[in-house]
Amino acid sequence: MAYNLLRGKRGIIFGALDENSIAWKTALKIKEEGGQFTLTNAPIAMRMGKIKELATQCNAEIIPADATSESDLNTLFTKSMEILGGKLDFVLHSIGMSPNVRKDKPYGDLNYDWYLKTLDISGVSFHKVCQTAEKTDAMNEWGSILALTYIASQRTFPDYSDMAQAKAVLESIARSYGYRFGKAKKVRVNTISQSPTVTTAGAGISGFDVFFDYARMMSPLGNASGEDCANYITLMFSDYSRMVTMQNLMHDGGFSTTGITEELIEKLKK
Ligand SMILES: NC(=O)c1ccc[n+]([C@@H]2O[C@H](COP(=O)([O-])OP(=O)(O)OC[C@H]3O[C@@H](n4cnc5c(N)ncnc54)[C@H](O)[C@@H]3O)[C@@H](O)[C@H]2O)c1
Repeated sequence: MAYNLLRGKRGIIFGALDENSIAWKTALKIKEEGGQFTLTNAPIAMRMGKIKELATQCNAEIIPADATSESDLNTLFTKSMEILGGKLDFVLHSIGMSPNVRKDKPYGDLNYDWYLKTLDISGVSFHKVCQTAEKTDAMNEWGSILALTYIASQRTFPDYSDMAQAKAVLESIARSYGYRFGKAKKVRVNTISQSPTVTTAGAGISGFDVFFDYARMMSPLGNASGEDCANYITLMFSDYSRMVTMQNLMHDGGFSTTGITEELIEKLKK
């Protein structure tokens, strides 16, 4: 059921690769709730992914941009305002990639060029997005900027490798830029810390199935799905969350504050 929560709002959605992507599900939800947006992804993902299907479904234009390139981002924000006919109310950063994880490098044998790439693509790009939004004067007052993160930024999940540092950077940027943008423009900046979700990025982490099941058993509500995440993002882009900023918002079915559950105790009993 739709409530027109985003009627009249304009934005940019990064990171829809295929129908499993959190950004893909979010685009469909935002469309249903009356929002208009441009879609963007890295030029390489554009060739491999199915973003054109989504663009047709949502009646949205696609603007390729590598989120680490300031000039691509500048074009993206400028063109989005032209296409959508005004300044923006929301931006979703749904981007993550680690060459070290992709190539199964152990944490004690990281390739440092790749490490810097991980930090740039998955962390610093969020600063570049916020800074470009500010420099192009793209945001309306009371706009909302969000990035997606994972609890491995705060607690150790060994297979998450250098992505853990990238997510810590990302969450810190939300606090620092949230302060700046709040003061300057009343724009809020937050991260959503999502449960493990079956997507291309998620399933790329080795042992994903096991920690998906572990998280499900450790969460009183179970794992939050991609659809649940899309709903929460919609709320965070709506006027009903105007005073929430500089937060890392746990969207994890209770995982982060649970010590142990009966289900796990049963499993561990000899
Ligand atoms: N899937 C999970 O279990 C899970 C859990 C918590 C948080 N997250 C986060 O959610 C976000 C979305 O991931 P997803 O799970 O939907 O997977 P996904 O693989 O569908 O999305 C990741 C996206 O990042 C894009 N990307 C990679 N490099 C880029 C670049 N240089 N410029 C622009 N875009 C680039 C990819 O093309 C892809 O569309 C990520 O930040 C991820 O870390 C995922």
